[in-house]
Amino acid sequence: MARKFIVGGNWKCNPASAKEANSLLKEWKKGLPNVDKSKVDVVICPPALWMSTLAPSIEGLGMEVCSQNVGKTDAGAFTGEWTAGNLLDLGIKWTLIGHSERRTKYGETDADVAEKVGKCQDIGVNVILCIGETLEEREGGKTDEVNKRQLGAVIPKVKDWDKIVIAYEPVWAIGTGKVATPDQAEETQAAIREYLKSAVSAAVADKVRIQYGGSVTPENCAELITKPNIDGFLVGGASLKPSFMDIVSKVG
Ligand code: G3H
Repeated sequence: MARKFIVGGNWKCNPASAKEANSLLKEWKKGLPNVDKSKVDVVICPPALWMSTLAPSIEGLGMEVCSQNVGKTDAGAFTGEWTAGNLLDLGIKWTLIGHSERRTKYGETDADVAEKVGKCQDIGVNVILCIGETLEEREGGKTDEVNKRQLGAVIPKVKDWDKIVIAYEPVWAIGTGKVATPDQAEETQAAIREYLKSAVSAAVADKVRIQYGGSVTPENCAELITKPNIDGFLVGGASLKPSFMDIVSKVG
């Protein structure tokens, strides 16, 4: 099955001001590639405080806004949180869940990630589910085991796989400049798809899109995207530059 590519730009807690964010979007507008939107989806994850204000500019570029996180509860006394319902209420149809920075710096567990995915599934918010191993786990030969554990925790919560994208992001490649080789990424992502086949179904394994994330740049993306199990990228640092559009055009 031909899967539509998907590229995400995860700005994390950047840039330093809304003014800079607007300037970047203006730069993108100048260099907007002529991509075939039937072949590639592009989602941008700005800091939460700017999701609403930047939405018109992001959508004006033919891209969609994606939250970087979402709460695991419904509305209630949960200071500092926001719900999947809050996202939909703002017209935001996408969220990342389980980014390694949430897991390692904010203590999110597989169970937390699964609950968040469940809330999004309940109301139809699209999820980019981030999974991936640490360097120690890779060197210990545990890459596939970790990915299966992180993905396996979520599977019971998923009723609609059309609303799930998986982002395979090896933790050792995030923000380090050490990109996985195309063969490393392909081998791991093929194993993730194989796991989906055995744990869910062949049809789901065939249709779920799997992004690669970790030190993706305009220079290294062209070879990565030739691999059959790489359906796009989740880009951090390089999504804060005008040249992010080069990544989009090389994919689309
Ligand atoms: O969500 C994006 C990833 O954390 C990748 O970040 O491209 O800066 O390595 P990076």
